[in-house]
Amino acid sequence: MTIDKKSLINWVGGKRLLRKTIEPLIPKDIKSYIEPFGGGGWILFYKDKWADLEIYNDLDSRLVNLFRIVKYHPNAFKEEFNYLLGSREIFFQFMNSTPITDIQKAVQFYYLITRSFGGKGNTFGTVKCSSGGACKSLKNVPEKIDAIHKRLDKVMIENRDFEKLIKQYDFENAFFYCDPPYSKGCGYEVTSTEDFDHERLREILGNIKGRFLLSYDDSPKVRELYKGFEMIEVERQNGINNRQGDNRLNKVFKELLIANYPIREIHERQTD
Ligand SMILES: C[S@@+](CC[C@H](N)C(=O)[O-])C[C@H]1O[C@@H](n2cnc3c(N)ncnc32)[C@H](O)[C@@H]1O
Repeated sequence: MTIDKKSLINWVGGKRLLRKTIEPLIPKDIKSYIEPFGGGGWILFYKDKWADLEIYNDLDSRLVNLFRIVKYHPNAFKEEFNYLLGSREIFFQFMNSTPITDIQKAVQFYYLITRSFGGKGNTFGTVKCSSGGACKSLKNVPEKIDAIHKRLDKVMIENRDFEKLIKQYDFENAFFYCDPPYSKGCGYEVTSTEDFDHERLREILGNIKGRFLLSYDDSPKVRELYKGFEMIEVERQNGINNRQGDNRLNKVFKELLIANYPIREIHERQTD
């Protein structure tokens, strides 16, 4: 089965809508492909293979457990998930309980993320005018699990802070796609926006032997921190608002792509 270039989950800040812009900017001559801020893995899963060594990392152990279970126990996951109904009661039961096994933990996390508004896992997702939200079809879940299971076969899954990870895997042919929490906006379970140390990341990335491509919100702070690096501006639709079908302002979100190798020319060629 060929992977459908999708992830398993919509994750806050996930790069689903930017994957086609990012893909051509990733160098072809890399020996390793590393995502220190893996999240839903939208860029990793966009291609069947980026490099001989591929690493998915995230500090959030719930994500790491989900992908490890899908990698090592896809059938147990499917079996456990198969009997779940789309229900508000189950949603809140999962939100307030502590699963016993890693398989249960992965299934419950997946259920909460896929059944909640905006993939945040904390609000039961209902919609007024389509068959999405909590009554979303489950028919394609086994197929997705099989595709991601296959894709993860040779991917190393790590659960470390970005600094340790980057230092451990850095060498001259290494490539890091970094998608940290934005400088402004909502945070994550493992780190709020205020707590995330953007300066520490800048320090590490400024001293690596390998290459990096970084995606961020377009803010004066980020522009100042990465002054001197190649930077391109891109726009993406705000997926959550659009799904609701309303006309809220701020539908277009501005992001920056920053790298320690030339990306502007490639990007201009793509957009011509
Ligand atoms: C913008 S999201 C990544 C989204 C991902 N690129 C995608 O397409 O789904 C940022 C991720 O960084 C993780 N994170 C936050 N602080 C971290 C840290 N110190 N080290 C590693 N990961 C961290 C969060 O758990 C979150 O999943």
